[in-house]
Amino acid sequence: MKEISLNVNCNIWKERKVIMNDIITLGIESSCDETSVAVIKNGREILSNVIDSQIKIHEQYGGVVPEIASRNHIQAISRVTKKALEIANITFQDIDVITPTYGPGLVGALLVGVSYAKALSFAINKPLVGVNHIAGHIAANYITHKELQPPFVCLLISGGNTQLVLVKDYTEFEMLGKTRDDAIGEAFDKVARVVGLGYPGGPKMDKLAKDGKEGIELPRTYFENLDFSFSGIKTAVINLHHKNPDINKADLCLGFENAITEMLLKNTQKALKQTQINTLVLAGGVSANCYIRKAFEKLENEGIKVYKPDLALCTDNAAMIGSAGYYNYIAGKRDELSLNAIPNLKL
Ligand code: KG4
Repeated sequence: MKEISLNVNCNIWKERKVIMNDIITLGIESSCDETSVAVIKNGREILSNVIDSQIKIHEQYGGVVPEIASRNHIQAISRVTKKALEIANITFQDIDVITPTYGPGLVGALLVGVSYAKALSFAINKPLVGVNHIAGHIAANYITHKELQPPFVCLLISGGNTQLVLVKDYTEFEMLGKTRDDAIGEAFDKVARVVGLGYPGGPKMDKLAKDGKEGIELPRTYFENLDFSFSGIKTAVINLHHKNPDINKADLCLGFENAITEMLLKNTQKALKQTQINTLVLAGGVSANCYIRKAFEKLENEGIKVYKPDLALCTDNAAMIGSAGYYNYIAGKRDELSLNAIPNLKL
């Protein structure tokens, strides 16, 4: 394989990491409140991953305001893309495929990334391949763990989704169970807001729970199948706090994490038994939670190999989208310029 330089500047031969038969994907993520663009090599290596977060803007409203998110994506996307190319030290012409998230997520926010990707695909004449945001979260693990290959069971726990997924192959998924109401991250965020911790609540509850001495007992919900429900525990915490505003918040957070983790663990163990698979992958923003990460590590004692994404790749980012886009691309998926945003896209 021949290493090529794609930019010769003032006779200085810049060392380039791109080899001719490498496949370079430009991942574009704008499904919620992060505008992110990444350059990914062969689905597993990050050449750049620029994330422009709007958390500071939405913090004052206690959650993401969809229209404000869309407007900020519009302002940020060109700048973020330029920076991603600069850091990766490549030009538009070095990109093999453009891979935007096209769902699930906020429709206005998704449309910014999708429209930008379509315009770029037309302008530089490179293929367009849409990516499911959930497949992106799963793919964050391919970047973190170079040896990881399907099949495996994935517990996807994020702000918008909670699912147990059988990943049969890189682009082949079977849903084993899902939340019937709130996503787990949504429950974290709502509880945190009510007890006065602010947005986003997950990381704040994670931190405060560490000061907890005795977790307050909270209800758990189970079904015959592998579905989840978090609305009961969310309401229980909110009611407890309303009845007793002086309740020890650290113990409340610890109790919440105890109960949530137990529900996640029991269903995951059931899924592993049902599928006879002994590889488990965690994914999504809530997989950054210290308590959950530690609890799942214990499954290793039962002969389960447990993979967790790098902390930096748990929450929304375009690197994971570029990785999933690469696997879609090599599987032969291509999209037309009529690609649309699908807010409730399923895996
Ligand atoms: O994956 P993500 O960025 O968004 C979706 O794709 O939906 O996840 C964001 C969610 C938020 O609800 C946030 O509170 C939660 O992940 N989160 C956490 C932690 N870090 C982020 N929840 C619990 N503990 C954390 N350390």
